[in-house]
Amino acid sequence: MAPRCMLKEIALFAVTLAVVAISVAAQAKAGCQSSCGNISIPYPFGTGNTDCNISRNFFIRCNTTFNPPKAFLTTSEIEVVHISLDGYLRINKSIGYDCYNSTGRSSYSDKWMNLAKFPISHTRNKFTAIGCDTYAYVQDNQGDTYSTGCLTFCNNIADVINGSCSGIGCCQTAIPKGVKSYHVTFNSSNNHSKILGFNPCSYGFVLEDGAYNFSVSDLYSDDFRHKKLPMILDWTIGFQTCTEAKMDPQNYACKQNSACIDAENGPGYLCKCLDGFQGNPYLTNGCQDIDECERRKPCSGSATCHNAAGSYSCSCPEGFEGDGWKNGTGCSLQAKPRRQRFPILVVSLGVGISLVSSLLCSSWLYLGLKQRKLPN
Ligand SMILES: *[C@@H]1O[C@H](CO)[C@@H](O)[C@H](O)[C@H]1NC(C)=O
Ligand SMILES: *[C@@H]1O[C@H](CO)[C@@H](O)[C@H](O)[C@H]1NC(C)=O
Ligand SMILES: *[C@@H]1O[C@H](CO)[C@@H](O)[C@H](O)[C@H]1NC(C)=O
Ligand SMILES: *[C@@H]1O[C@H](CO)[C@@H](O)[C@H](O)[C@H]1NC(C)=O
Ligand SMILES: *[C@@H]1O[C@H](CO)[C@@H](O)[C@H](O)[C@H]1NC(C)=O
Ligand SMILES: *[C@@H]1O[C@H](CO)[C@@H](O)[C@H](O)[C@H]1NC(C)=O
Ligand SMILES: *[C@@H]1O[C@H](CO)[C@@H](O)[C@H](O)[C@H]1NC(C)=O
Ligand SMILES: *[C@@H]1O[C@H](CO)[C@@H](O)[C@H](O)[C@H]1NC(C)=O
Ligand SMILES: *[C@@H]1O[C@H](CO)[C@@H](O)[C@H](O)[C@H]1NC(C)=O
Ligand SMILES: *[C@@H]1O[C@H](CO)[C@@H](O)[C@H](O)[C@H]1NC(C)=O
Repeated sequence: MAPRCMLKEIALFAVTLAVVAISVAAQAKAGCQSSCGNISIPYPFGTGNTDCNISRNFFIRCNTTFNPPKAFLTTSEIEVVHISLDGYLRINKSIGYDCYNSTGRSSYSDKWMNLAKFPISHTRNKFTAIGCDTYAYVQDNQGDTYSTGCLTFCNNIADVINGSCSGIGCCQTAIPKGVKSYHVTFNSSNNHSKILGFNPCSYGFVLEDGAYNFSVSDLYSDDFRHKKLPMILDWTIGFQTCTEAKMDPQNYACKQNSACIDAENGPGYLCKCLDGFQGNPYLTNGCQDIDECERRKPCSGSATCHNAAGSYSCSCPEGFEGDGWKNGTGCSLQAKPRRQRFPILVVSLGVGISLVSSLLCSSWLYLGLKQRKLPN
């Protein structure tokens, strides 16, 4: 009984600590820079000190030459604009283009990217191409793992509809799962020669789903090619499954009050705070209890709300009955108040018992600590 008892006391202490820590709510590791310009950098990502990132793939290079400073993924030129603890990060990518004038091709920029660890999200991105004489392809850098793309044609700009990416001026296709590199290339049937008046260029990019609305004017806009558009990468911890990772507690990334989730895209896993907790599951004491009483006020007016680690409850005052919930039966005057004595007895008995056990615990703790000191 003794160790269980001590655990309870220690847990109470930890909860008190957590409540104190809530005001700080740092998402970065202790002593680490928590943002780069406007971009916050939650652990397992980190910048500056080499202990601030969980492994080398999670290093963020903050370049303060820019104003506001820009964040780059490890040593690459990949610009990170948002890091989500839900296992994805948003990057800003320039788009590929293939432009023509009356004498032929005037400029061409195929785009490629190689990622060390993080795959391109297949659920949150779409390969998109724009143009009226356009074949656009996307494949891995060697071209031997996957290859896909789409084509879009139009002879008359009046046929093109804003917002529609279905093959008239704009086309879209999904990209496969687990892809860590891409290369965008182009071709055309007539070098845009018949449509130079309203569409001299073809464009192609892998893009966050919903982050761009096709507009007819993008077909002839001069500066569309200089745009940067968002794209989503999935990130995971390590290369193991949850089951494998738990067998190596030294390196297991999910801390207290969190659960492990096997990654959906590629190897590795993610951590998530348990229900009723919030914060950064990768940090010690990162998942902190949510005070639902304060946040949601779930109990009806006369009821008392009790917040507990990971949960909460409502109770009606003496002489009232009901579940105490705002959306439940609430609290109403009890029909027969005579039966009131019994619960009070139980409550005071309970309080007495917990007082005694608390005392017992403290003495156990005290003795335990004392005993541990003896060998020194
Ligand atoms: C970035 O931060 C600067 C000041 O530090 C602010 O003026 C600017 O509006 C912010 N930009 C964004 C996109 O949040
Ligand atoms: C963080 O990233 C840096 C740069 O890649 C690397 O040298 C360092 O070892 C990483 N930290 C950890 C704990 O792996
Ligand atoms: C920051 O960016 C500038 C301009 O691109 C570059 O010259 C410089 O080397 C970069 N610094 C770091 C530390 O990456
Ligand atoms: C077409 O583009 C090429 C390359 O940019 C340029 O040298 C040439 O002068 C352009 N022709 C016309 C007619 O603008
Ligand atoms: C581009 O398209 C032209 C005409 O349709 C074709 O002859 C040529 O082989 C294609 N080039 C590539 C690299 O696919
Ligand atoms: C397209 O342009 C290229 C060179 O820019 C030329 O070799 C090719 O013959 C042209 N194709 C057509 C169909 O005009
Ligand atoms: C695209 O259009 C939809 C509906 O018209 C709008 O809700 C959304 O905000 C637009 N997205 C962008 C990136 O402009
Ligand atoms: C398409 O959207 C652009 C702005 O994005 C607007 O200027 C243009 O008038 C729209 N065209 C049509 C046909 O709705
Ligand atoms: C992406 O880059 C473009 C061009 O540099 C910039 O205008 C845009 O604000 C950037 N997007 C974000 C989300 O930082
Ligand atoms: C009342 O709302 C809570 C969430 O606020 C929900 O969990 C519970 O099931 C609801 N109860 C009823 C009876 O609707």
